[in-house]
Amino acid sequence: MKTAKTRRTFIKSAGVAAGGLLMAPSTISMAGTHRKDKETLALNGGAKAITASQDDATTWPRYGAEEEKAVLEVLRKPSYTPIDALEEDWKKHFNVPYCKAHCNGTSSISALYFALDLPAGSEIMVPCATYWAHITPMRFFDLVPVMIDINPVTLNMDVEDLKRKLTKNTKAVFPVHWLGMPADLDHISDFCNEKGLILLEDACHAHGASMHGKFMGSWGRMACFSFQASKPLPAIEGGMGIYQNLEDYERATILGHYLFSSRFRDTSKYSKYNYGLGLKFRMHPMAAELARCQLETLDKRNAMLKAQIRRLNDRITQLPGLYEQQNRPDVDRVYYYRNQLFLNETEAGMSRDTCVKALKAEGVSLVSAGKAQFLCDDPLFREAKWWHHLPVIADKFPGAREVDKRGIGLDFFTKEMPELNEQYITAFEKVWEHRKEL
Ligand SMILES: Cc1ncc(COP(=O)(O)O)c(C=O)c1O
Repeated sequence: MKTAKTRRTFIKSAGVAAGGLLMAPSTISMAGTHRKDKETLALNGGAKAITASQDDATTWPRYGAEEEKAVLEVLRKPSYTPIDALEEDWKKHFNVPYCKAHCNGTSSISALYFALDLPAGSEIMVPCATYWAHITPMRFFDLVPVMIDINPVTLNMDVEDLKRKLTKNTKAVFPVHWLGMPADLDHISDFCNEKGLILLEDACHAHGASMHGKFMGSWGRMACFSFQASKPLPAIEGGMGIYQNLEDYERATILGHYLFSSRFRDTSKYSKYNYGLGLKFRMHPMAAELARCQLETLDKRNAMLKAQIRRLNDRITQLPGLYEQQNRPDVDRVYYYRNQLFLNETEAGMSRDTCVKALKAEGVSLVSAGKAQFLCDDPLFREAKWWHHLPVIADKFPGAREVDKRGIGLDFFTKEMPELNEQYITAFEKVWEHRKEL
């Protein structure tokens, strides 16, 4: 247990050495480097760099007394009013004119496609690597997904590929903000304006992210959020549709909400449909209460997660060949699901797979190959029987393939874990120091 011993030794001698350490900070890093030089990789039988417990490191969601109290109140006094209250809170927090809570992100996306009211065969550009629910509801509305490659450093829609794939049938562009990283909506929005296309947003990973100070989810004509348990704003299940105009709000609402049309304006085309239009997308009021509580603490949570990941990434991305999902300075991203890293094998002098194996051996137990969530090989997108018009899928998606080759998906800690965070840095530095042996 060399690492543990070194650490114990440090603590024991800290009182004596503290003065010297303070006076000569460079000695610390030199001593650290020297220590790591002598160590053996865990892969080769050495002590693991990670000794701190990871048991509770990634627990999510993290609910507390406020959530328990709010849910219990619904249980004791059942009513649907929490749904209205959530919608009001949401409009205020994100400064959007209209929104409707739905039972999940998928239903909010289905409602969005219905609200578009586009002619059969209309093409909508979507990323080739995203979550299935972003695209599949299109098949119920006779819309045609056109798969756009992703940019291998942002994992978001590639703006150049988007421009190349424009046809006379293109009606809308529907990017996702993958893992909480805003897509290039300024450029995409300019392109949409120039070509007369509708901009939509899948903001299911990006609660609280912004670009140029404007929240993601408020750029597009319509947008959707998910409150599923893993999301930055988790309500176990739930979703929200965002609408910039009243017509879209009413049409998206009438698809899945009955006895609701009396709230529409008298002149609405939809006010006569008491029973809605046949589906039921109502959110559970307990989920609405959970979402309200989580909305109150969203900014604090996002800031804490971000600060912790920055402490890690700012150090480890100084190692040769190691990069992170590219961040623009005019963007305030949030973090969702994994900390996406990339390895340039030539610069690093080791293969991605070997690197992942060595990190795992050090106790970085949550490392996986951070692949693109490439959908186009799934039979659902290839079989004509499920579609009025088959999705348009190009032969090659070099951006997505590049991510598959270079990605490293690192789980992140969902509460303050300073010791573990530091040990992760040590593990990466140790593997890099010994990479020639790998
Ligand atoms: C990008 C994206 N869009 C849509 C959805 C669907 O949301 P839900 O699971 O709430 O239906 C998800 C869910 O993971 C998602 O990741």
